[in-house]
Amino acid sequence: MKGIIVVNAFDCGKNVMYKANRMSDSFSRRGVQTKIVPNDRFLAVVGEGGKVGLNTDADFAVYLDKDKYVQYLLEKAGIAVFNSARSTELCDDKMMTHIALVNHGIDMPMTLGGALCYSGESQLKEEYLKYIADTLGLPLVVKSCYGSYGQQVHLAENYSTLKEIASRLKNSATLFQRYVKESHGKDMRVIVVGGKAVAWMTRRSEIDFRSNVEAGGKGYVCDLPDSFRRIAEKSAEILQLDFCGADILFGKDGPLLCEANSNAMIGEAERVTEVDIADCYVNHILNKLNYGAGGRH
Ligand SMILES: Nc1ncnc2c1ncn2[C@@H]1O[C@H](COP(=O)(O)OP(=O)(O)O)[C@@H](O)[C@H]1O
Ligand SMILES: [Mg+2]
Repeated sequence: MKGIIVVNAFDCGKNVMYKANRMSDSFSRRGVQTKIVPNDRFLAVVGEGGKVGLNTDADFAVYLDKDKYVQYLLEKAGIAVFNSARSTELCDDKMMTHIALVNHGIDMPMTLGGALCYSGESQLKEEYLKYIADTLGLPLVVKSCYGSYGQQVHLAENYSTLKEIASRLKNSATLFQRYVKESHGKDMRVIVVGGKAVAWMTRRSEIDFRSNVEAGGKGYVCDLPDSFRRIAEKSAEILQLDFCGADILFGKDGPLLCEANSNAMIGEAERVTEVDIADCYVNHILNKLNYGAGGRH
């Protein structure tokens, strides 16, 4: 059996390569050869005769990216892909994640989907902005629906910052969210593999309301309360994720699901928890492929 580990061609820094290499080593310890491949190799295309054209002979793909087109096409060609394209797509768009999880008993901060505006000249109505401010209170959180590392997450401290941020982002998918002040500068990151929480840490920042490691946060050893385990595992189950890093906020009445990262980095979580997360994920993938249980080939 042969696998590919797909990484982004333009964003494959040391965090991404750490995860790819750790997984590749774990596969090879189990006798499975994998190749790390950037996503710009047209691995799968809409080919002649309306059929998927394949540029790989892999049996499975570990997709350490969020670029869904190739991911969907690999699946169409019958290749097992981890995570699935649909799960990745749902997680990549934070508003779609909240929509997928709503009405499933998953507590989340109140969230309003921003109205998409198609022209650069149109002004946002005061009525629209006032509704957002009155409903969620100020300060409030504004997020681009697509984004990572805290880079597209903003705190609107007052009405004029809200107006400035919302106007700047009006032509892209955006959400407005209640600011969970009890969670300022901290959250819990829970890694879920095959439906089970395998590693967890709190992340704290001294310098920002966002606790992302990439924005200056740091991971710390912690216990995993049942309520946090449940929200992380249930979210992963609903989103049908083989692997994810669930970000959970500390709400005043309990945990609130912030987002599920289909492509969470593992360096800080492995350092803090000393869990071999890469190996857990590889083990899950090989079990799902039935490798080693009579399926070894
Ligand atoms: N509603 C919120 N209230 C308080 N803090 C938040 C809220 N949403 C996000 N954060 C903080 O910002 C960080 C980044 O937000 P997140 O939605 O996880 O985006 P990203 O994909 O950039 O990590 C979170 O880890 C958390 O620390
Ligand atoms: Mg996050």
